[in-house]
Amino acid sequence: MMRTCLWSSLFVLASLQAVSAQNSTTTCNNSPSLCSRQYNNVTYLGAHDSPFLRNDETDFSTSGNQFYNTTQQLASGMRMVTGQIQNPSNSTALHMCHTSCDLLDAGTLESWLSEIKTWMDANPNDVVTILLVNGPGASASDLASAYTSSGMSQYAYTPASTSATSTWPTLESLISNGTRAVNFVSTLDDNTGATYLMNEFDYMFENSYENYNASDFSCDVNRPSNLANQTSTAISSGYMSLVNHFLYEQQAFGISSPNEAAITTTNAPSGGGSGNLGDHAQKCSAQYGKAPTFLLVDFSNVGPAIDTADTLNGVSNPTGRTSLPDTPLSETSAATIALPQTTTLCLGLGTALLAMVFL
Ligand SMILES: *[C@@H]1O[C@H](CO)[C@@H](O)[C@H](O)[C@H]1NC(C)=O
Ligand SMILES: *[C@@H]1O[C@H](CO)[C@@H](O)[C@H](O)[C@H]1NC(C)=O
Ligand SMILES: *[C@@H]1O[C@H](CO)[C@@H](O)[C@H](O)[C@H]1NC(C)=O
Ligand SMILES: *[C@@H]1O[C@H](CO)[C@@H](O)[C@H](O)[C@H]1NC(C)=O
Ligand SMILES: *[C@@H]1O[C@H](CO)[C@@H](O)[C@H](O)[C@H]1NC(C)=O
Ligand SMILES: *[C@@H]1O[C@H](CO)[C@@H](O)[C@H](O)[C@H]1NC(C)=O
Ligand SMILES: *[C@@H]1O[C@H](CO)[C@@H](O)[C@H](O)[C@H]1NC(C)=O
Repeated sequence: MMRTCLWSSLFVLASLQAVSAQNSTTTCNNSPSLCSRQYNNVTYLGAHDSPFLRNDETDFSTSGNQFYNTTQQLASGMRMVTGQIQNPSNSTALHMCHTSCDLLDAGTLESWLSEIKTWMDANPNDVVTILLVNGPGASASDLASAYTSSGMSQYAYTPASTSATSTWPTLESLISNGTRAVNFVSTLDDNTGATYLMNEFDYMFENSYENYNASDFSCDVNRPSNLANQTSTAISSGYMSLVNHFLYEQQAFGISSPNEAAITTTNAPSGGGSGNLGDHAQKCSAQYGKAPTFLLVDFSNVGPAIDTADTLNGVSNPTGRTSLPDTPLSETSAATIALPQTTTLCLGLGTALLAMVFL
């Protein structure tokens, strides 16, 4: 057993060295083929409400939209993370809260940005888009203080244009400039002092997001309201598209929650049943004359939803991802994921060897 561990650990080391010997900018967002593409000519899979978890950490809260945390979402290929900011009544710091901080409080904005920053530090060839839903109407300086204290401001890209544009830098230029975090806020009318915070609807449009039935998914512009249903105008004016593709279900007392029961179909690739992600994305591609820029999903490991983004990007051999189980996480399956002791030992040995190499 120990010998097997040793050999597999050494093998991992050898492959790591092979990777680090390559030109560090030859892979962008998991594929060499995306490096020369403009930022707005890539399809990004987004995790809707990234910090709001439905797992052991939240006792499987029905307010949770994701089974795995933001770090795991990024590692598995999501390149847009989103979340809602609120002002909890008992704190002055902005928090990531689902509708209300009494319902689901996922901690401070600063700590969530730090989590993303930590992942980006370790993954220097990845461009990540962050979309904040500005519940309390926080000011640019309040948001910027969390960006500064978390260190995320260091990676923030400042746009050349203050409105929708078809001229975005390539992924490789964002990467080589070190400005790999692209930040949108819905909404922020005045970004004085933090021009890297972009008012979402100045740059992109969304289809409607309040869908309860798989037959309701549309590709038409819903927001910004001044462009509602003027989809071809929005596209020709350089707006990027964000396709909301998740379902709510009605609970008692008029409360809506993310629909887990239908998720295997909702996130499936083309042909995977009524209301699947792949067919919806293809329908939007046909309507827009190009693929959607952002696809936003709940329970993003299921589908796997990333397959649809890879298909739209023409990426067939993504590298550097850590895949997650492709199934809904239930309280019983969560229990069985616990690592058996031998695996823990193996991981420990691998980590020790890695530590030796990097010291
Ligand atoms: C690495 O790739 C970048 C972008 O393609 C290129 O500009 C640079 O010259 C390459 N560096 C080396 C050492 O090959
Ligand atoms: C990128 O450009 C190609 C070629 O024009 C197009 O087929 C594709 O749909 C575009 N993707 C996005 C996300 O804009
Ligand atoms: C994310 O989940 C992984 C696996 O459970 C855990 O090791 C890690 O600490 C979590 N990260 C954060 C920031 O909670
Ligand atoms: C604020 O209240 C929430 C619950 O309403 C609680 O979970 C949290 O610990 C409180 N925070 C502080 C700083 O008291
Ligand atoms: C990269 O930095 C250079 C020098 O500051 C600047 O001229 C260029 O516009 C930047 N490119 C991007 C993509 O931000
Ligand atoms: C969803 O919409 C279809 C077609 O309009 C309808 O037949 C079906 O009953 C709806 N399902 C639910 C759960 O409302
Ligand atoms: C856009 O179209 C939808 C569906 O046809 C309709 O319900 C909505 O009222 C329209 N919105 C505007 C602003 O025209």
